[in-house]
Parts: sequence; structure tokens; C-alpha cells
Amino acid sequence: ASVFSDIEMGPPIEVFKMVAEFNADPHPEKVNLSVGAYRGNDGKPWVLPVVRTVEAQMASDQTLNHEYLPVAGLPDFRTGACKMILGEEDPAIVQNRVAGVQALGGTGALKVAADFLRQNMKYEYVYVSTPTWENHKSLFTKAGFKVKEHRYWNAKTCSVDLEGMLEDLRTAPPKSVVILHAVAHNPTGTDPTQEQWKQIADVCEEKKLFVLMDCAYQGYTSGDLDKDAWSCRYFSQRGFEFFIAQSFSKNFGLYNERVGNLCVVCKDSDSKSKVLSQMELNVRVVWSNPSNHGARIVATVLNNPPLYAEWRESIKTMANRILFMREQLHQKLKAIGCPGNWDHIVQQQGMFSYTGLNEHQSEQMVKRFHIYMLKSGRISMAGLNSQNLDYVAKAINTVVTE
Ligand code: LMR
Repeated sequence: ASVFSDIEMGPPIEVFKMVAEFNADPHPEKVNLSVGAYRGNDGKPWVLPVVRTVEAQMASDQTLNHEYLPVAGLPDFRTGACKMILGEEDPAIVQNRVAGVQALGGTGALKVAADFLRQNMKYEYVYVSTPTWENHKSLFTKAGFKVKEHRYWNAKTCSVDLEGMLEDLRTAPPKSVVILHAVAHNPTGTDPTQEQWKQIADVCEEKKLFVLMDCAYQGYTSGDLDKDAWSCRYFSQRGFEFFIAQSFSKNFGLYNERVGNLCVVCKDSDSKSKVLSQMELNVRVVWSNPSNHGARIVATVLNNPPLYAEWRESIKTMANRILFMREQLHQKLKAIGCPGNWDHIVQQQGMFSYTGLNEHQSEQMVKRFHIYMLKSGRISMAGLNSQNLDYVAKAINTVVTE
């Protein structure tokens, strides 16, 4: 018998299972609304022009080589990433009490945070919203946390259940971390208002919750990097010591390059240096030092004003196309008289819509119509385009009316 004979088959990872099944599906009208990855109106992944430009420069730059990066990553990338989320004028940036740790995507940044909070700080509990991105729970469980959930989504009103959320957070035991989606909540597409963020911050302060912002979609809500950074900047200005896990997968379209940063905001620069030194030791035993290619692209763009401006235009293009798809889907559902109120499609923000389709209806979308979406009812708006909108709207109408 194999030494592995007691190992059980693990459950599939829903979102990547969907992608694989979509790719293998020969149906001519298949649509992929599962994974949160941008596509143009032609249904194809979009390599941003600024990324192509920088890659071409890199290919011919004879001064570049493949030496190891520092353990904490490329310095220009880390500084640029922290400034991008907090803003150049942020007091913590100005006072040199922010550190960046380059990581393997947003997931890697969460991992650096989880390991440090558990191992070095002895935090025991982590609060996540119901619902949340499924990887939050698994990642923190494997890092040794006990996961607790706080209310977030009010399905009746299609809005944030702020009272429920605050009530749950007020019962948090000592040594609790809370993961907050900085912008474009995944999967609900519904963020707290600025007034609600203030109340959330009050409870975090009162209960001494350690705040970990997960920021995977900066730019996708408003099309503007600064506006989308509001919640993070607010926490910094209030004097919180907190972390922000940043992903560059979506806003740079660099999914498979795994470009992330953990932005560490401390009260003073002495603490910052000590925290960073411990995180380096943690990173050393996980991936030792990060990869170069994607981080160099991002660093080049962030530190070059004309390229930065060009990138910001591309973000607007992506955000606007998604907004347009929201309007179109909303109109089509109303035009065909699909029962129910579909206003949440245009009210929600970021890459996803939480359609309200139940598990059975969502499965019917996949099985009968070859429209791949998560069983929670989440769809990626970026998977819609002018060729498949009618088909998707009709399918939704069918599964809802039957
Ligand atoms: C998603 O939520 O679809 C993306 O963030 C991809 C992933 O890693 O789950």
C-alpha cells in the first residue's frame, strides 16, 4: 500500500474548477462569469498597453539580470505600492513608519500577514464577513487561526447589515483580527459608506481588533485609484496600526505574475523596522525571496509619471466597461420582464455582482446554459460582453421563472 493511502481526496477549489470546466466545454455559446479576471468586450484577457511597453523595454535592457531580489522584495515596488494605497501625503508615509513586503499576489500578502499575526503576535481569532472570498477562511485556518464570522450582507435589502456587523464585532474576544475588504467587496460588490466605515473603525478601536485590509480591486469601483483608497487612508489618518494586503492582479492585469504587497503601517519607524525584520524571517522559510518580472513592471509604471498616467487611463477603461455591462444587463432583464427587482446589479460595484440567484438556479445556469458562475450566485461582470449579454439575460430569466 502507498504511504499516502490514508490521504483523502480534497474537495475541488470551486473557482478554478469552473475555469477548467469552462475551458473543456465545447458548447459554442459558453460564457465564463466565474473567475474575477478582466476581459475586453471581445471576451479576451487584456494585456494593458503600458505593460506591453514596459515588457518590451525590459526585454532589451542589458543591465537587467536574474539575481535574487532582497527577501522583502524590490524596493521601488514596495515603496511605490505603499504610496499608491496610502497617498504621498499620508502622515505614516511622510513619517517613514510604513513598510512594504513584496508577496506572491494578494494571497501571498495575506499569508505574510497571517503568519506574523499568529506566530509573532499570538493573535488567535480572525473575523471574516458572511459571505467573503472563500480563500480567507482556508488561509487563516491553515495559519492556525480560529475563524469567526460577522454579519455583513442583508439579502432582503441587498445592502450592508451594519448593525449586525457592529454587534458581532463588539463580541470579539481579545486577540482578534478582522479582515475588511478595502473596496469592491468580494463577492457582494457592496461596500460600507464613509459614515459606516467610521462606525466600523470605532468598534475596531474600542475592541482593539487588529485590522487587515484586503485590497484586491483598487481602481475597479470608481475607476480612480485615490477614491478607491478612501477606507485605507481613513484608517491610517485615524492613527491605526494596521496592514493592507494589496494585489496587482486585477488593476494591472498581471494575474499569473503573482504581484502583491503587504503594506505595514506602524506608529513609529522603530516598530516598523522590527516588524519588517520578523516578516523577512517568515518569508525566508516560505518563498525565500519573491519573483521579479511582474513587480518590476509595476515598479517601473508607479515611478514614471507618464506611464502612471497611461495606466490610470486603462483602469478607467476597465471600470467603465464593467459599469456599462451593469447597465446593459439591468436593462435587458427589465426589458424581458424578468421577475424581481434587479436594481442591485447597477448599485453594486467592482468586478462582481451578487445576483441573488440561489444555489439551484446558479447550477442550472452552468448545466443547462453553459454559463459558468459560482454557486453563491456571484458573477464576474467582466465576463459579459455585447455578444453574450442577451444570452445571459435570457438564461437568468429562464432559471428565475421556472
Ligand atoms: C476570484 O475571486 O474569482 C479571484 O480572486 C480569483 C481567486 O483567486 O479566487
